[in-house]
Amino acid sequence: MLFTTFFDIISIGDTVENLTNNNLENEIKKIMEHTEIKINHRYIAKGIDDTLLLAKTFAKELKKGDIIALNGELGAGKTVFVSGIAQYFGIESQICSPTFTIVNEYTLQNLEKIYHFDVYRIEDSTDFLDSIGDHYFEDGICIIEWADIIQDILPKRTITIDITKDEKNSDIRYFHIRRN
Ligand SMILES: Nc1ncnc2c1ncn2[C@@H]1O[C@H](COP(=O)(O)OP(=O)(O)OP(=O)(O)O)[C@@H](O)[C@H]1O
Ligand SMILES: [Mg+2]
Repeated sequence: MLFTTFFDIISIGDTVENLTNNNLENEIKKIMEHTEIKINHRYIAKGIDDTLLLAKTFAKELKKGDIIALNGELGAGKTVFVSGIAQYFGIESQICSPTFTIVNEYTLQNLEKIYHFDVYRIEDSTDFLDSIGDHYFEDGICIIEWADIIQDILPKRTITIDITKDEKNSDIRYFHIRRN
């Protein structure tokens, strides 16, 4: 077989179209290149490898100043998604949610920074600004777990990814990727 289908994309118009890996790359490239336009895409990851692949495809396009806001209940797959990004950049250490430290910092080979936030224990955006500040958003690539908590201070260019679990199949996750 020439192409392997990794994902299904469900367009807003309800038509379901199979995506090849190649198509996925093109789509995500478009999403990242045009930071001023609205986006609204849905993907289904049928297992952890799909989630990692989706994350790695995003990682290819990430650059300083990009912000990825991850939402979804406990165990939705936010940290798995961050691991995929980390794998792409060759970050060796095991990725874990910085639940108590709020932010983990990684320096890439080109000296760019990746900031991995977990704001689960942050009260609200005021609490975040008081304890962490917003300088990180311009300073590197920011990926934020439980980003809804500080949604009101996230820059407009932020890409929000809502992850939901399938009710029946524990391997399936739905990704809703949007920018307003
Ligand atoms: N398709 C999938 N994508 C991602 N994770 C999956 C998938 N299917 C099953 N899983 C499992 O779901 C769990 C996701 O855990 P993860 O730590 O990434 O969640 P989280 O959203 O970061 O939770 P928390 O809010 O506690 O930080 C893992 O145990 C993983 O193996
Ligand atoms: Mg997590």
